[in-house]
Amino acid sequence: MLLNATDPAAIERAAQRLAAGSLVGMPTETVYGLAANADHATAVHRIFEAKGRPADHPLIVHLAAGSGAQGWRAGVDHYAREVPAFASALMRAFWPGPLTLILPRREGVAAVAAGGQDSVGLRCPAHPVAQALLNAAAAHGVSGIAAPSANRFGRVSPTTAAHVAEEFTALADEDLLILDGGACPVGIESTIVDCTRAQPVLLRPGMLTVAELEAACGQPLRARDEAAPRASGTLESHYAPRATVRLMDARQLRAAFQVLGSDAKHIAVYSRCPLELHRGVPRRRMPDDAAAAAQELFAVLRELDATGVRLIWVETPPADAAWDGVRDRLQRAAA
Ligand code: TXA
Ligand code: MG
Repeated sequence: MLLNATDPAAIERAAQRLAAGSLVGMPTETVYGLAANADHATAVHRIFEAKGRPADHPLIVHLAAGSGAQGWRAGVDHYAREVPAFASALMRAFWPGPLTLILPRREGVAAVAAGGQDSVGLRCPAHPVAQALLNAAAAHGVSGIAAPSANRFGRVSPTTAAHVAEEFTALADEDLLILDGGACPVGIESTIVDCTRAQPVLLRPGMLTVAELEAACGQPLRARDEAAPRASGTLESHYAPRATVRLMDARQLRAAFQVLGSDAKHIAVYSRCPLELHRGVPRRRMPDDAAAAAQELFAVLRELDATGVRLIWVETPPADAAWDGVRDRLQRAAA
């Protein structure tokens, strides 16, 4: 069931559903989440079941922004046992916003959501609908909302309410209420920084650049290594449409289409460079700006996939840091 999120009654209904242990499709600024009360073990199990996600892949817990400076602090202290100074600095710089921090978990809270790890992923989202839902749910005793991206395991993340509905057609209306908050403005998932060790470690790139993160916390950001916690968004193959995605540079694209001519009908293309294409080849133009490309990326992959092509050829994104998040998602979609 899709409800218009601008209606306060819809938010209240969704909050009651969460408190009672059902699932809610929740818009955030990054992607839509499949939400449940983070401290309700049965409800959190339902998320894993609906997604087909292995139970040991931890979920992010979303927190209310509260009022005043660091209004999220009560939420952080509810779930985290310890907050290093560099993590506090990152929160101050980027919360509410598209940043998730992995922190040592307080014993006895959000154990199922954390997938058995002794850490917990926390994020204070900026989307007004997510915040309205967090506040309304808090009034029903919900301290945090566990929400992975609202797609089946390994598939393309949803950036509209319609995408969420497409993913979970098997769920009945009474099992899933979806709040329609329009298209997500950021479009790719949050940046994830592991804060459980002495130094911050980048687990998943997003739209915040390494330089911005380092400037905010005053420390170099380490790259993931063997000791880093596992994260499904960091699996080599993820975000995959049905069609096979292949990354190619402009020269390779031009040459390949020249050779194929009218035999290119089973291919769709997403590129910045102009191409001479035979009629009937589905094509979307990739924006030159990284933020604009991120915003539409998953919707474009879904749209091109829906044309029924066997291959989606995507022009390799530019090498600069602003494109790290988009490049990462495309490489995983292509793996
Ligand atoms: O933007 C986002 O982060 C979206 C929206 C809904 O907030 N959520 C999202 O959730 O992308 P999900 O589950 O698709 O990806 C969360 C990632 C996973 O790769 C998970 O393994 C990692 O966060 N994660 C969560 N808690 C963790 C923990 N305690 N330790 C290590 N990784 C963790
Ligand atoms: Mg995901």
